[in-house]
Amino acid sequence: MCIDLWFGGLATTTNTTTWAISFVLHNLEVQDKIHQELDRIIGSDRLITTADKNDLPYLNAYINESQRFTNLVPLNVPHPTSRDTVINCYSIPKGTGVVAQISTVMNDE
Ligand code: HEM
Repeated sequence: MCIDLWFGGLATTTNTTTWAISFVLHNLEVQDKIHQELDRIIGSDRLITTADKNDLPYLNAYINESQRFTNLVPLNVPHPTSRDTVINCYSIPKGTGVVAQISTVMNDE
């Protein structure tokens, strides 16, 4: 279980953080808006906590967009189909292992 959490949580979190910081370094206008929101909601007298999440819509949107743009998890983990399915003329019986390609959604204009 510890290995699962390690593999599931490490690259996803560090890649999110690394790319999100990299993007703000190249988008000073966005960086300024995040800063303004943090100044307004958090101020400088305390640390940010998860309880602040709902009050920081711009920062949340920024993190979501960073994850979409970096294509953070291009391939999902395998799941079995719950019923017989037909996709593009291909017949996929119930119980077949399938992997959703998340990038097709993230890059769908
Ligand atoms: C930005 C951070 C993360 C992203 C983008 C992410 C993404 C994902 C995705 C796409 C799945 C597959 C969901 C599905 O079943 O279709 C998943 C599952 C999982 N993630 Fe994460 N994850 C993140 C952080 C973490 C962290 C921090 C941990 C552990 C501390 C973790 C542990 C797991 C585990 C154990 C599963 C399998 C859950 C199951 O058994 O169904 N993830 N994650």
